[in-house]
Amino acid sequence: MRDYDVFTVESKADVLEKSREYWNPGKTGFWVDTGVDLVIDRREGYYIWDMSGARLIDVHLNGGTFNLGHRNAELVEAITTGMRTFDIGNHHFPSSARAALAAELVRWAPPNLTKVVYGSGGGEAIDIALKTARHATRRRRIVSIAKAYHGHTGLAVATGDDRFSKIFLADRPDEFTHVPFNDLAAMEQALAPGDAAAVIMETIPATYGFPLPAPGYLEAVKELCESHGTVYIADEVQTGLMRTGEMWGISKHGIEPDILVTGKGLSGGIYPIAAVLVSEQCAGWLTEDGFAHISSFGGAELGCVAALKTLEICGRPQTRSMVHYIADLVGRGLRDIQARYPDWFTGIRQNGVVMGLEFDHPEGAKYVMRHLYETGVWAIFSTLDPRVLQYKPGVLMTPELCEELLERTEAGISGAWAEVRHSPAGSRAPLAGRAR
Ligand SMILES: Cc1ncc(COP(=O)(O)O)c(C=O)c1O
Repeated sequence: MRDYDVFTVESKADVLEKSREYWNPGKTGFWVDTGVDLVIDRREGYYIWDMSGARLIDVHLNGGTFNLGHRNAELVEAITTGMRTFDIGNHHFPSSARAALAAELVRWAPPNLTKVVYGSGGGEAIDIALKTARHATRRRRIVSIAKAYHGHTGLAVATGDDRFSKIFLADRPDEFTHVPFNDLAAMEQALAPGDAAAVIMETIPATYGFPLPAPGYLEAVKELCESHGTVYIADEVQTGLMRTGEMWGISKHGIEPDILVTGKGLSGGIYPIAAVLVSEQCAGWLTEDGFAHISSFGGAELGCVAALKTLEICGRPQTRSMVHYIADLVGRGLRDIQARYPDWFTGIRQNGVVMGLEFDHPEGAKYVMRHLYETGVWAIFSTLDPRVLQYKPGVLMTPELCEELLERTEAGISGAWAEVRHSPAGSRAPLAGRAR
């Protein structure tokens, strides 16, 4: 009997059945039909265990949430100690935990960012960033990238793909302009009228499969923003916290964004928290009406405790060296595998441990995902480009684990290739499951 055998579920089949009935029939059905019937049970470091007992190396990490591993011992210790003093706290009042984290985030931020606003998750933080830009510019229009993903809250969802906004009648084409990624002319055209409050950019668009910005692209977008009086918002939810080998991916471009958003991994995967780092020029509303954004759980004190420890771990010189080491080791291993399957495994997108693996099939990453699942690796396809597998090693992985990961990865890639090649309808056969 485990500590948490207190739930009223009998078996994995029971969990799946109850999930279909009471929780989310669409999501549950999708995974079961796709052949990834994962019900995460035990979790430790970079391993997760399915309820069947099967062990998987986690390189999905839930978008970097588990960057430091599942239930990282230092984080568990910090939060356990924190619980002797803190709970969520009262968001209306100043607090030692919130003040300490804000000061630490500012210390790690690009020098122009001087204020911190908290949310409970990434979407809320993006909403705060967009509201902040609107307040600072007194403009309404927001420009984002087609196939961007900034979350599903009220404003954030309108910056992203129609699939997620239209279903809730939340698309607002008059206020939200989408332009193709890496297309500077389109960006220039979108900003030319001089009425855009903000350009919001993931430093590397995650859900689109981590296509890398063309050299000079982000820098040029920032310059365009400056010349049109538009705020540049860097969404660092997936690229921050040392995943590119620097605390923030945007710093590698020498860009000082007007606003920077962090979430996911900031919580250490232990207690939810997200944060918006804001320049003095954009922070006016915090003085004009400090109650203008209210969130009971935004900046929860236990989240601050987790985030402080996360920043400490990410900021250690050993962590930075480890990221460079892992990026090099895994990058080389992947290129070796690619050389053995050049017609199938067609591309590697990489910046640090942010990686997207491209396959020569419109849904290639779904096949690879399923085969990896069978060979003991959990990595997820890119929702907005299912040719590409999101492949996100953790920043504290050991060399031995990286080697094991590469071995299993090759087995999964090879298995998927055999299936695609031998499927009756040839390499264009659709995968079971209802993914769109
Ligand atoms: C780049 C990016 N921004 C924002 C979000 C939204 O974060 P959350 O799911 O915590 O609302 C996500 C979530 O995947 C993301 O990948």
